[in-house]
Amino acid sequence: MPLAIVVLAAGRGTRMVSSKPKVLHPIAGLPMLFHAMRPASELHPDRCAVVAGFGAEQVSQALGKHAPHAEIAVQKEQLGTAHAVDQARGMLADFDGDVIVLFGDTPFIRTETLQAMLEARRAGADVVVLGFEPADPARYGRLVLADGRLQRIVEAKDASPQELQIGLCNSGVICCGRKNLFDLISRIGCGNAAQEYYLTEIVEKANDAGLACSVVTCGEEETLGINSRSELARAEAIFQNRARQAAMAGGVTLVAPETVFFAPDTRLDRDVLVEPHVVFGPGVQIGEGAVVRAFSHLEGCQVGRAAVIGPYARLRPGSCIGEGAKVGNFVETKNATLEAGAKANHLSYLGDARIGAAANIGAGTITCNYDGVMKHRTEVGAGAFIGSNSALVAPVSVGAGAIVAAGSVITREVSADALALGRAEQDNKDGAAERLRQRVRKTAAE
Ligand code: UD1
Ligand code: MG
Repeated sequence: MPLAIVVLAAGRGTRMVSSKPKVLHPIAGLPMLFHAMRPASELHPDRCAVVAGFGAEQVSQALGKHAPHAEIAVQKEQLGTAHAVDQARGMLADFDGDVIVLFGDTPFIRTETLQAMLEARRAGADVVVLGFEPADPARYGRLVLADGRLQRIVEAKDASPQELQIGLCNSGVICCGRKNLFDLISRIGCGNAAQEYYLTEIVEKANDAGLACSVVTCGEEETLGINSRSELARAEAIFQNRARQAAMAGGVTLVAPETVFFAPDTRLDRDVLVEPHVVFGPGVQIGEGAVVRAFSHLEGCQVGRAAVIGPYARLRPGSCIGEGAKVGNFVETKNATLEAGAKANHLSYLGDARIGAAANIGAGTITCNYDGVMKHRTEVGAGAFIGSNSALVAPVSVGAGAIVAAGSVITREVSADALALGRAEQDNKDGAAERLRQRVRKTAAE
């Protein structure tokens, strides 16, 4: 059965106190909207519509970056969840299949849960609602069942005291055939306490029309919605805990798991060891047996098998560290390849560079890649030795096996196996130190 996803993301999120739309606030560096969409995208939907309102332009830009296949529908005024879904009506007019409605501020629904809803559809339900039993149901819509069948959903604001006793609540996620969904939405009015068009009313309208409604349930943690900065921090903590558990279950050692931070796409192979206080930004892959030592920050990089990174290393986007290579303390790499066994152990900046296999980059070596306008490349051949405190002024290349003397400023190509000395010659004046000292003392005494 073809599948479409409609994600509601028009709300302002007043309690975030932000000029940015709520759904763009990040969890693990990725806007929560894309966490909310990820489990559905694992079901490979044919269509995906995001209903935006407040900050729609920013939402549209973020979609371009993270979910280019998604379409955007704009809800100018937020008149309720049914009205929000209705904004995708025209877009889905030619779509024939199931629609799952999700909330953009609810990032933890699992793929398996959505699958269970689709199975309930296949088992004959026309409308499937995702319910859960919260510890405190206070503000949630209640699922009213009779003879085991879902009769209607009543919002807390509109509920009678008996209905408020019901523990089974509405998560907001529903699944329904496209035609029924929009036919039923057409029948929904706004004569309720909030004077909004409630999507929850489709259950009652479906029963009126002789359609069957059923409930699939999930755990409360899946339905966590984010409305404030403190809930955002809680979501971050939940995400990070799961990522840590998943990494360890996959054979990664985290010496102090609670101090290591992951991005949604971090990939660590088995037997990677991560010391305390490491941050993985987006796009990091680390090969088997590599060690990431304490206080390192990595993003957009690949680290080969058995490489050693840190402590205190910074790998920026485009860094590619070869098998067994070493990047030590206070070394920053950007758009740089260190081939197998290359070493940059201390205090270096390597940008827009290729460092050949087993080359040694001395402490304090800097690739001067930027001339104030453009970036230029540095090439260092295999087995080359760059002496400490050298500046490699790009564009420049140092051939395989060459040696650059410590303290050199290299501005011209160094050929393979050459020795380059790019520094002033040393001049020793015997006895001059003592003569200088006496002159200074004499001046001071006068
Ligand atoms: C909704 C449900 C409630 C459920 C709860 C779970 C309705 C009427 N009620 O209530 O039964 O227990 O979620 O959290 O559906 N949105 C729009 N446009 C609108 C209104 C809302 O895009 O005009 C979006 C919001 O940005 C949000 C989502 O829809 O992502 C839910 O809206 P919200 O106002 O939070 O609904 P609740 O009152 O929490
Ligand atoms: Mg809500």
